Amino acid sequence: MSTVEIRSCTSADELRDAVAAIVHYFGRERPTEEWAERWLRNFELERMLAAVDGDRIVGGAGAFSFQTTVPGGASVPCAGVTVVGVQPTHRRRGALRSMMRAQLDDVHARGEPFAMLFASEETIYGRFGYGMASLYLSVDVPKAMNDFRVGVEPVGTVRFVTPEEAAAIFPPIYDGVRSETPGMFERSASWWEARTLADPPEVRFGGGPKHLVALEVDGRPAGYAIYRLNTDFGDLGPETTVRVIEALGESPEAISSVWRFLLDIDWSKQTSTFMLPVDHPLILLLARPNQARPRVTDGLWIRLVDVGAALSGRTYAGDASLVLDVRDAFCPWNEGRWRLRDGKAARTNDEADIVLDVSDLGSVYLGGFTFRELQRAGRLDELTDGAVYLADATFRTEGLPWCPEIF
Ligand SMILES: CC(C)(COP(=O)(O)OP(=O)(O)OC[C@H]1O[C@@H](n2cnc3c(N)ncnc32)[C@H](O)[C@@H]1OP(=O)(O)O)[C@@H](O)C(=O)NCCC(=O)NCCS
Repeated sequence: MSTVEIRSCTSADELRDAVAAIVHYFGRERPTEEWAERWLRNFELERMLAAVDGDRIVGGAGAFSFQTTVPGGASVPCAGVTVVGVQPTHRRRGALRSMMRAQLDDVHARGEPFAMLFASEETIYGRFGYGMASLYLSVDVPKAMNDFRVGVEPVGTVRFVTPEEAAAIFPPIYDGVRSETPGMFERSASWWEARTLADPPEVRFGGGPKHLVALEVDGRPAGYAIYRLNTDFGDLGPETTVRVIEALGESPEAISSVWRFLLDIDWSKQTSTFMLPVDHPLILLLARPNQARPRVTDGLWIRLVDVGAALSGRTYAGDASLVLDVRDAFCPWNEGRWRLRDGKAARTNDEADIVLDVSDLGSVYLGGFTFRELQRAGRLDELTDGAVYLADATFRTEGLPWCPEIF
């Protein structure tokens, strides 16, 4: 059996071949030239790795160059891992492992302290040092039972906007939320245009076009939503699902007002989304949250590629001093003891307080999980009494991490 070689793509045509692997599993054709042109507006070609067997590209793995918010609000360089796939003809021969090797070495060489991704299956990335770093909430709020609690009244007015208007109105609202939400990445003007606001038919997944609405309060934008309608008719009348792609507001009133609009659209049976952080206010706004059938799935996965830089890049709730002994079989340059003191991490020979795998440190890094939760799941060793308590007091964050977009 031949082995695959890993190298960067060198042309848009090769990019299309490499992405054809993941696209295969979505049941779609090899991406078009037009797709590649749009993709390359926000992606460096050399960051697309191809798995090559002889003269055929049989797999691919890409990475966006993100700036991602970490606890405390700083924007840190981060690899946004994307379009990972291996053709079914070449599965389980180590192609993914070789691509992960090349990609993490490259991320390390670029000085990006961490990488993030959404996983298609939870079993894939842990072996490469990624840890589940947030949980996402899916809801289907029935139109017939969508009341808010008594006393919650919408503010402002909602109007449709064109993509051009949205490109001016939405980014400041997004940036306001982003600056205080670990896990959200900076969007350039071309990202907004070619990705967030673009609406290529191949990713409508059976729904109608994207609709863009802005909430205005006292004449100025305070929130926005992007949604589609999956229109359907049953025996008793319309049964449309409103699929919320993104809904953000600059204040609690703006968030509840944008959601009020989305929940009330006529002809709908339900309003659905699968991309909310579990601490999203919607659950506390609804009078009957159970009727929305909230479900929890994995959200972001984080891989600390440079443990020292990643830990030093965020802020902490306390100035405690702690020694973490990090295990990292896949990226051994992270292995060993790190002292966290005054918000900075440095190598130390001191005795460790906590021993844990780098994937588990990834789980707590943005604040999505706690050391106590890891301990209860048998995922760390506490060598000093009280160290887990101290670590949680130190790593505590205001809110849970969230990235509202699958990239
Ligand atoms: C997931 C995928 C990329 C794996 O590629 P691959 O080349 O078959 O993986 P490898 O042969 O390098 O496997 C590396 C290891 O991961 C394991 N593994 C790979 N895919 C796995 C999966 N889906 N579930 C569980 N384990 C998996 C392998 O068993 C192997 O384990 P080992 O190190 O103990 O031997 C490929 O199956 C695929 O394209 N799947 C569909 C698309 C997809 O899910 N892409 C990921 C998007 S986030």
